[in-house]
Amino acid sequence: MRNGFAVWLTGLPASGKTTIALALEKALRERGLNVEVLDGDEVRKNLSPDLGFTIEDREIHAKRVAYVTKLLVRNGVAVVVGLISPMRNFREYARNQIGNFVEVWVKCPLEECIKRDPKGLYKKALKGEITDLTGIQDPYEEPLNPEVTVDTYRDSIEENVNKILKKLEDLEYIPPKIEDTS
Ligand SMILES: Nc1ncnc2c1ncn2[C@@H]1O[C@H](COP(=O)(O)OP(=O)(O)OP(=O)(O)O)[C@@H](O)[C@H]1O
Ligand SMILES: [Mg+2]
Repeated sequence: MRNGFAVWLTGLPASGKTTIALALEKALRERGLNVEVLDGDEVRKNLSPDLGFTIEDREIHAKRVAYVTKLLVRNGVAVVVGLISPMRNFREYARNQIGNFVEVWVKCPLEECIKRDPKGLYKKALKGEITDLTGIQDPYEEPLNPEVTVDTYRDSIEENVNKILKKLEDLEYIPPKIEDTS
């Protein structure tokens, strides 16, 4: 059985986690891997309908996601996780649980995230209608030593996905792509 691994995308709301997760999913599928995506809202709805957005609840949720990811990874699945996971210790917990763990900091300046605001969350938080948005009222602890940092302000989705694929190749989680020269 092929070795499973997790690509754990962490970053501010609207930084581009879901966008990159879906593009990466497609690229990994094209290489013949079994892929699962555990992304943000969808996972929260299914795994943690009982939880809110206090730091304590966010931690419990991140631990649940880490647990499911662990089960999949040990069965050879390539798991792409998109989760704000704002605190360093949440990500360290996931890393220790999962083992084959590639932390990707999806980096984007807060001002740009506020401009993008695809879900209108920043708008609501800045008006005070939401009081616990990461980046506005709640903390985001930037990764200190991620395996990959992707800059979604400067670089394209494709460049960033290729950067992650390259790291997965270097770590020998996926074989290098054989170019079709025919
Ligand atoms: N280079 C880029 N990489 C990724 N996203 C980009 C890039 N340039 C612009 N965008 C846009 O930024 C937005 C990012 O939204 P996305 O839903 O992926 O963020 P998110 O990190 O998943 O947010 P949330 O934490 O709220 O789920 C999208 O509208 C996307 O099209
Ligand atoms: Mg998302």
